[in-house]
Amino acid sequence: MLGKHLLSAADLTRDQALLILDTTSELAAVTDRSVKKLPTLRGRTVVNLFFEDSTRTRLSFELAAKRLSADVITFSAKGSSVSKGESLKDTALTLEAMGADAVIIRHGASGAPERLATAGWIDGAVLNAGDGTHEHPTQALLDAYTLRRHTRDGQGDLSGVRVVIVGDVLHSRVARSNVLLLQTLGADVTLVAPPTLLPVGVENWPCKVSYHLDDVLPDADAVMMLRVQAERMAGAYFPSTLEYSRMYGLDARRMALMSPDAIVMHPGPMNRGLEISADVADADRAVVVEQVANGVNVRMACLYLLLGGASSEGDGSQ
Ligand code: NCD
Repeated sequence: MLGKHLLSAADLTRDQALLILDTTSELAAVTDRSVKKLPTLRGRTVVNLFFEDSTRTRLSFELAAKRLSADVITFSAKGSSVSKGESLKDTALTLEAMGADAVIIRHGASGAPERLATAGWIDGAVLNAGDGTHEHPTQALLDAYTLRRHTRDGQGDLSGVRVVIVGDVLHSRVARSNVLLLQTLGADVTLVAPPTLLPVGVENWPCKVSYHLDDVLPDADAVMMLRVQAERMAGAYFPSTLEYSRMYGLDARRMALMSPDAIVMHPGPMNRGLEISADVADADRAVVVEQVANGVNVRMACLYLLLGGASSEGDGSQ
């Protein structure tokens, strides 16, 4: 059983994470059919509240909610002139008045989903769709699901699976959520980044750190490339883009160092030619498009378990 909200990968126990992945497998069987809809959330209202840009996450939450027959409203709040705190509260009160059963929030401020969940403005479930540089739990879940399909035949946990996460860890909520969830599922994670793009305190994260991509590639089962998040960089974090690509980019020469079965992942959007070359992005072993497809099913599973599954029955769960 899940809690009331999905705010952080850190909150998920191994059993809860496996429940989401197993539910995703069951729902994937439905979305493979020509009629993809389930009646589970009929009459429920799901609001997508996006204060930051998004393509994949917004579309896939919307599609996931629709496939479960919920009524879906998408609100893109970017560009609002109201100060963030006030605007979040006022928006939340409006959504509550409209009877939102779930609010999916993406916000530039780390902690905004937590505030929405705990301030008492709304009664519904809150799902974090990415908050600042903090967390992006459904991305980590769809990555875990993708990894499980490729390394574990879609069963059980990820114990012993070796995952290398490369690039702009400092600004990446995807990296943080992945490290936390992959550790919970038993995977062995190595971060590779220039020292300037590693967060303070990374030595306390449950993973290894390396500065040499070529050294760690041969042993990896999966290599996850991170987008260089130029919009979050006020200063210079590396000498030039050419230098970055040379040291930390994945190109065909480097991909050849990987084991033949190892996969290449990227959460998107990709900077082709910067952290990943175009030929690698389009290679057979790059599973970027599959990650997007899995994202819809993972988000269906999350909505199903939070709103329509066992956790909504009886005790008004925690
Ligand atoms: C990521 C995000 O927004 O955190 N994208 C996504 O959700 N698929 C990663 C990124 O923007 O680099």
